[in-house]
Amino acid sequence: MPVSPNGLEVLVRRYRGRRRALIQVLQDIHDRYRWLPPEALERVAEALGVPLVQVYGVATFYKSFSLTPRGRHVCTVCLGTACHVRGGAAVLEEFERRLGIAAGRTTSDGRHTLERVNCLGACALAPLVVVDGHYHGQMTPVKVGAVLAAAAKDEAA
Ligand code: FES
Repeated sequence: MPVSPNGLEVLVRRYRGRRRALIQVLQDIHDRYRWLPPEALERVAEALGVPLVQVYGVATFYKSFSLTPRGRHVCTVCLGTACHVRGGAAVLEEFERRLGIAAGRTTSDGRHTLERVNCLGACALAPLVVVDGHYHGQMTPVKVGAVLAAAAKDEAA
């Protein structure tokens, strides 16, 4: 979603001068745009009265914040130890093959972002994939197509 000055202003206005609301306003912006555009970070610093370097510090500290545009669907494949030994690498390869991108990239149509992480904290479900916040445990390469189809169906609903 493109960043409109008015849309951004609506998000930031309610936190004006509230320095302690930094994480919350960043979360609101991220929820809306799926990333934190530079102009948004500058506007947040100005509105809350905190140094821009502090805003960037928070934005880069939390892994849930992205400083680059993300696709409509975010596919996160875990390659932590438990997931790796149970076939996580083959699952990631299947996502890469189907989406035509490597981990860490977004498709040119902006529909999918593919990420790999080192543990999602639910190792009993290994190998684990999270797509748009939905957890898919005991993943196999064969299930990847169905998971992507389910995400597309959610989009259409
Ligand atoms: S290693 Fe994948 S969830 Fe922990």
